[in-house]
Amino acid sequence: MKQKKILYAGKAKSVYRTDEKGRLIVEFRDDITAFDGGKKDVLKNKGSYNAGVSAFFFAYLAKNGVRTHFIEMLDAHRMVVRELAMIPLEVIVRNIAAGSIVRNYPFKEGTKLDPPVIVIDYKDDSRHDPMLNDELIVALKIATPQELRKIKAAALKVNALLVKLLAKQGITLVDFKIEFGRENKTIYLGDEISMDSMRLWDRKTGESLDKDVYRFNKGDVMDTYDRVAKRITKTAKKP
Ligand code: CDP
Repeated sequence: MKQKKILYAGKAKSVYRTDEKGRLIVEFRDDITAFDGGKKDVLKNKGSYNAGVSAFFFAYLAKNGVRTHFIEMLDAHRMVVRELAMIPLEVIVRNIAAGSIVRNYPFKEGTKLDPPVIVIDYKDDSRHDPMLNDELIVALKIATPQELRKIKAAALKVNALLVKLLAKQGITLVDFKIEFGRENKTIYLGDEISMDSMRLWDRKTGESLDKDVYRFNKGDVMDTYDRVAKRITKTAKKP
């Protein structure tokens, strides 16, 4: 497969056309950003840790009946995916209160949320990703009510599967963000599922094993990503 012209460059990933119809390449770069791009760095090998963990999760989810855009890895930081028309929603699933839900609502950090709470934000950096509700999503014609039902059901299924997988490694899935897209009328899970898009806590120590280490200068980010990638995939090697 040949990598062709760049379609899009986000804060940490770039997307390229390929010589195959309906197939794109997603490159996980070594850029890391937080606070709406207010904090930025380049951390060597970071992209390959997130690519590897994303690929591992996508393969596991696919095996368990979730439609994802993942096809195969080209190398440690480039993934071949199905081309989707992305839906501009950030679908966040929360099992434990942390982050913005604690800042914006009277939840104490660490409170268990059972059943899990789904929060859907409008993916628009210029508006700082405002929170939506079902009526707004339909009125904005972002998704139909039927699609929204499918998206929420898929998000809860992904959550249940990831909670189970991570628990086996002694990791608590606090929350995560996923994105969906369409190919014709079918909805697929797109984007990434990585340490940049999840909150993971060590079950015993409560240590952060995700981008919060970077956001709040809690320690050596790459050491954390290396350790957690190995724990998640068990066989992951240092790239
Ligand atoms: O990270 P922050 O507290 O600002 O936002 P949040 O709403 O608490 O984020 C919930 C989860 O979604 C965290 O695991 C974030 O890493 C993830 N997220 C993301 O990956 N991208 C965003 N634009 C917003 C949240």
